Amino acid sequence: MVMRESLLIPFPNFKRARMERKPRLLDLFCCAGGAGVGYNRAGFDVVGVDIDPQPNYPLAFVQADALSLEVKFIAQFDAIHASPPCQSYSDLAKRNRNADEWPRLIEPIRKILVKSGLPWLIENVDGAPLRDPVVLCGTMFSGLRVLRHRLFESNFPIIQPSHGKHPKVHTFDRRKSHFGKTDEWKDFVQVTGGGNCTLAAARAAMGIDWMTKNEINESIPPAYTEYIGLQLLHHLSLQEQEPAKMRRNA
Ligand SMILES: C[S@@+](CC[C@H](N)C(=O)[O-])C[C@H]1O[C@@H](n2cnc3c(N)ncnc32)[C@H](O)[C@@H]1O
Repeated sequence: MVMRESLLIPFPNFKRARMERKPRLLDLFCCAGGAGVGYNRAGFDVVGVDIDPQPNYPLAFVQADALSLEVKFIAQFDAIHASPPCQSYSDLAKRNRNADEWPRLIEPIRKILVKSGLPWLIENVDGAPLRDPVVLCGTMFSGLRVLRHRLFESNFPIIQPSHGKHPKVHTFDRRKSHFGKTDEWKDFVQVTGGGNCTLAAARAAMGIDWMTKNEINESIPPAYTEYIGLQLLHHLSLQEQEPAKMRRNA
């Protein structure tokens, strides 16, 4: 659910909304935890779920199929984030016409999230079939140097930051006119399987120091979910105040 920046309360009002207890967030399709770490920094206790073992996930972890979780397990949480695999929705798959080789899990996971009755988000790449998503890009965050669009569909309001012009990104491709004119330690980079920068530069640009190359290729910068997490906390604190307000007014 997108809220345009100009219509909104200034972002600092969301900082560290107070809650009676630390809220718990379920991080589905967690991989090595780019999203999970951002929510943890915002103030959530996070539990990650992935179908594969994730030895580098730095928070509590459960190995399981996200589509087969018990209702009782999900009900222990205050909010859910889901990052289903993006390969099938990517431009590369569209160009190579091989999108059918990967699972398309957005629709089935959305059904589970809606059924949970909790605040939820689904994150994915440009071109994924998300409804009315907010778009985040590394250019929107002062500590980042990565061009990485990610879409976020949610059932609670998220502020859409304004989006400036993209700078030139560092490249290893000699055919590009700016080849040799950028520095991967100062300029923006793109983090892809093809490799347009070293792993060390990718880690610095994304604010992630614990992932392998394959993990970081799959990941989002924690700054994205820290930004969203503060707004989710605000939303949860409003929900928490609602029954108390109703009791006082009764
Ligand atoms: C794009 S990555 C998630 C990246 C992560 N959000 C981050 O920021 O680092 C998608 C993950 O989904 C996992 N996955 C694929 N199918 C799954 C399923 N049915 N249940 C749980 N995890 C699954 C993959 O193993 C992979 O680690």
